[in-house]
Amino acid sequence: MNIPAEEPAQSTGNKQYQHWRMEIADDGLCWLCLDMAESSTNLLSSGVLLEFADIVEKLEAHTPNGLIIYSGKENGFIAGADVKEFPQLSKGNNAFELIRRMQAVMDRLEQLPTPVVAVINGFAMGGGLELALACDWRIALESDRSTLGLPEVQLGVHPGFGGTVRLVRLLGVRQAMPMMLTGKPIRPSKALRLGLVDKIATTDDWRAIATRLASRKPPVRRAPLLDRIMNIGLVRPIVAVMLKKQVSKHARKEHYPAPFAIIDLWRRHGAKHNNAYEAEAASFAELITSSTSQNLIRVFFLQDRLKRAPEQPVVPVKHVHVIGGGIMGGDIAAWCALRGLSVTLQDREMHYIVPALERAEKLFEKKFRNETDRAAAKQRLVADVNGEGVAEADVVIEAIFEDLDAKQALYRQIEPRMKPSAVLATNTSSIPIQDLSTCLQKPGRLVGLHFFNPVAKLPLVEIVSAETTATEATNAALAFAQQIGKLPVPCRSQPGFLVNRILAPYMAEAMDLAREGVPISEIDKAAVHFGMPMGPVELADSVGLDVALHVAKILGPIIGRTSAPELEKLVAEGHLGRKTGKGFYEYRNGRPVRDKSTQAGQHKDVETRLILALLNEAAKCLEEEVVSDADLVDTGVIFGTGFAPFRGGPLNYAKECGINDVVQKLERLTSQYGPRFKPSAGWHRLTR
Ligand code: NAI
Repeated sequence: MNIPAEEPAQSTGNKQYQHWRMEIADDGLCWLCLDMAESSTNLLSSGVLLEFADIVEKLEAHTPNGLIIYSGKENGFIAGADVKEFPQLSKGNNAFELIRRMQAVMDRLEQLPTPVVAVINGFAMGGGLELALACDWRIALESDRSTLGLPEVQLGVHPGFGGTVRLVRLLGVRQAMPMMLTGKPIRPSKALRLGLVDKIATTDDWRAIATRLASRKPPVRRAPLLDRIMNIGLVRPIVAVMLKKQVSKHARKEHYPAPFAIIDLWRRHGAKHNNAYEAEAASFAELITSSTSQNLIRVFFLQDRLKRAPEQPVVPVKHVHVIGGGIMGGDIAAWCALRGLSVTLQDREMHYIVPALERAEKLFEKKFRNETDRAAAKQRLVADVNGEGVAEADVVIEAIFEDLDAKQALYRQIEPRMKPSAVLATNTSSIPIQDLSTCLQKPGRLVGLHFFNPVAKLPLVEIVSAETTATEATNAALAFAQQIGKLPVPCRSQPGFLVNRILAPYMAEAMDLAREGVPISEIDKAAVHFGMPMGPVELADSVGLDVALHVAKILGPIIGRTSAPELEKLVAEGHLGRKTGKGFYEYRNGRPVRDKSTQAGQHKDVETRLILALLNEAAKCLEEEVVSDADLVDTGVIFGTGFAPFRGGPLNYAKECGINDVVQKLERLTSQYGPRFKPSAGWHRLTR
């Protein structure tokens, strides 16, 4: 987005900025463009902010007739602060001073006597939206990518450039709180409805609208009457209690302090001027040094690592052929079509494909806002009983029954018809890649692409390579997973790969505890208390007990468990968990019926046994080099199981506890409960 060339413009001052361009038009309006150097996206890095502070000072001295701040990037306005600078901020003790300085810049922007307009194209996130909030007017450009949000809680902090104050002042507590507490962005149309933006514009008319708005200051804006009543000093504590109660349903204060801090800031200061800003800075400085924030920032970087483009350029995939239209194959095919690929879906007969197409339609309805996009995605996904797509495909994904002979029979049929460069990927969850590849003319082309169920929700894909797998196939699979927006973790072809392997002893320990008479609700509560999204018993029910039994049989010998009698019994009775309405729990309206009288902590060592079983297996995977390093173990477990992100992954958590302490605890558990807790040799790697 640039000012059109015909605009008469002259450069102001003799100062050249690295990230900002400032031009004064003939009508005296100042057009200020942020085009961050050496970056595809605008961020509020310290460099950008320092220059901005200088510009604001200049504008105070030579006030233009109006100021219009816009972006020089096509993809959006400002994506927020530069997270890469967060670790520095949290290490020194100067976070408070730095934040106060930046707040002062926003304050001076707000105080400029001239009307100030922010033009938001695409996203305005975090500090980007806070900057826009300090302007008089906000215009949003309508596009599919446009979102406005304050997602700081996702990094364990809250807005720090005055956002906790200005948003409440502008929208009122009822609308501002959900935006800050959930961190979820909103679309321009909703932002207009709430009063967060003043106008919606198009690429054609935004300049004219901005020019018009920049001619006058807006009238004083006031939040709705009810919000103003809620903001009265005597009422705030009552509302704050209600807000905290709601937040507590989703997060515990000791795990995620930031949302509670946002409510407290408002309770104490009611979004009223100076004290409120100072308190915001103090609270931010405290949160950024908390272990929750440090770990969430760590998770952000781990995720970033998985998104990084491969060193060798890889040709993007155009056509995917998926064989097996069941739970996994059907959903993988739908996901690929959603992400813009052309997909053929093969199964033995059409009636096996129909349910997959129906599920795909629901997915497209949910993910696409307009009918044209939905129709296009639907068109990209083609049922193909005869498997004609094999010859066209750049990647063939096999997701048929978990049976070596069946898979090999299929490979023999399709390999001669595949393009020489095409990758053959299997979604197997347990059969070694090297065993599957023996029937191939080119064994090197087979690689594992292990998606997780439900495919649309779980971001992780394990890229499984055996010694037989060619590096090109692994790289192509990695790039393909990135292309469809998944997070690929490269793994060695070992039983259970990474995620199932690490989950297996944790789930088995839950079964042991249940056998010893610990109520299943108490077991699950202990895991949730630690920070897991759901307990191991409910997880088994959700995955499906037939699937869990299958995995247990394969991994049993590796984790030292010979049988899973409870699982076998339930499966034999046809109770497969959530999908059949009964497993370990009974389900009503899709929700487990829990014993309400059960309290957490009634039995000894429940949480310790569950979590240490998982940590020890993570250390074993490191020792056996299932993945290449400890960070990848942590990433796989966080994104594959939902392992408490605020703990930064199992091995990071063990490091925070102290490896020696963890080993000592495992030794105690070994003497009390058996050799399955014997500390892994992998712990030595982490103490080295
Ligand atoms: P499923 O039983 O739901 O679907 C398998 C489909 O393959 C069926 O529709 C069947 O008709 C079709 N099929 C079988 N032989 C075929 C052939 N020769 N040609 C064409 N189609 C054929 O199985 P599901 O659960 O989707 O599993 C598929 C694969 O994904 C398995 O290897 C499984 O281990 C793996 N997996 C399963 C997960 C799960 O949660 N269900 C998770 C991750 C991997």
